[in-house]
Amino acid sequence: MSTTLATVSYLGAIILFILSLGGLSNPETSRRGNLYGIIGMTIAVLATVFGPQVTAAGYGWIVGSLAVGAAIGLYAARTVKMTQMPELVALMHSLVGLAAVLVGYANYIDPAAAGQFSGAEKTIHEIEIYIGILIGAVTFSGSIIAFGKLSGKITGKPVLLPARHWINLVGLVVVIWFGGVFIHTHSAAEGMTPLVVMTVIALLFGIHMVMAIGGADMPVVVSMLNSYSGWAAAATGFMLSNDLLIVTGALVGSSGAILSYIMCKAMNRHFIAVIAGGFGTEGGAPAATAGAQPAGEVSPISAPDTAELLHEAKNVIIVPGYGMAVAQAQHTVYEITRLLREKGVNVRFGIHPVAGRMPGHMNVLLAEAKVPYDIVQEMDELNDDFPQTDVAMVIGANDIVNPAAQDDPTSPIAGMPVLEVWKAKTSIVMKRSMASGYAGVDNPLFYKENNRMLFGDAKKMLDEVLAALKG
Ligand code: TAP
Repeated sequence: MSTTLATVSYLGAIILFILSLGGLSNPETSRRGNLYGIIGMTIAVLATVFGPQVTAAGYGWIVGSLAVGAAIGLYAARTVKMTQMPELVALMHSLVGLAAVLVGYANYIDPAAAGQFSGAEKTIHEIEIYIGILIGAVTFSGSIIAFGKLSGKITGKPVLLPARHWINLVGLVVVIWFGGVFIHTHSAAEGMTPLVVMTVIALLFGIHMVMAIGGADMPVVVSMLNSYSGWAAAATGFMLSNDLLIVTGALVGSSGAILSYIMCKAMNRHFIAVIAGGFGTEGGAPAATAGAQPAGEVSPISAPDTAELLHEAKNVIIVPGYGMAVAQAQHTVYEITRLLREKGVNVRFGIHPVAGRMPGHMNVLLAEAKVPYDIVQEMDELNDDFPQTDVAMVIGANDIVNPAAQDDPTSPIAGMPVLEVWKAKTSIVMKRSMASGYAGVDNPLFYKENNRMLFGDAKKMLDEVLAALKG
């Protein structure tokens, strides 16, 4: 393939990636967005493999790696559950980081690559390598720790070293200093020492940064690492002089940063504090260790009584959370919604930006169950409507409906915007026990006078509610 054709193909792939991101921003166009992404990626891979930079001798390696990568990808896509998605994503980010590190080292020691540059160009190329390896190493080790925390293999509690900000600062100064040493070296052998020292510091920094983050803040970390992985890919693009990789990396990097910002807002965290690492520990006890002892009396309700309340209601808001995903109750939720709407009840869904375990988790499940998009609303769109709501039905959600976020400044989730279900005439919380949610904090909603607890597996209880509604 000629260089021109490869460039044109890259341009086409870039446009398709942008269209893909645009499509993914709305559930109605997300399938199309995915398709654009698939076509763009296919073009990108073909243009690279058959492009001018690959010689026939490399095809064996490429086919071998493609086979291994595709097999792992297929296996993961088939076996990983939706609720494990953040772990998988974290693991994938680690691979992007690792790739940036390996490409950086390979590029540095490759005599052909080094011979291309001299003077200022050589310095710029070395800076690209240094920064690429730096971002890649932080992304790699940080993502591995994030994977460990999300999968429960590493403690979700924040691990805080004394003087951790100073440790980070000293690390940064050392990295900058070695960067200066690196670009003034005259041979690959000489440059190796500062490069290796920096890589070790970057790896330790990635571990230190994510270890210091409390479990409740992990969603922000995952999207932040998503952003880092994009910048690592962009840096790799600079090292390899590959425009497609630069643009794609920048797209991932900036969309990840925007997502991190949205999530920070949704969880009332400061973006700058997130970027600096070591957040999620201010405002009282660390998440997951805070007192989760039940405090007060709760009023249980049965499935038939729940059906009765729903039947009599004019306005219902359903708030789904992680438990709905675990119970896979979305199809029954849809059936109940359909039945109620047929009876003239105004049913809407209130979606919190961090409900479940990944961005858009609830939207995906509800779309899969064919719940109409127009009744699925964002928290901000309907939070003021709870006082006019007869029944607020909370299905397997906990942290996102916790009034302590507003009332208790010492709560680990203080300041996090929440769905104000307690303002409805009656709220019904469906969960199996009095156990706390992801953030590990008790929920005063359960003890409110107008709240009822429908204990049991969400799917089982909703099946009973549906049967009672039909009866
Ligand atoms: P959580 O606060 O985690 O609460 C979920 C509740 O569902 C639990 O209290 C659990 O109580 C209940 N549950 C579990 N399995 C159930 C089942 N089979 N049937 C019925 N109930 C079940 O969930 P949330 O309200 O959706 O809030 C999300 C939390 O996860 C936030 O703290 C958020 O920061 C965090 N987080 C979010 C993300 C993203 S990006 N969305 C990623 C990682 C973490 P029982 O055990 O008593 O049943």
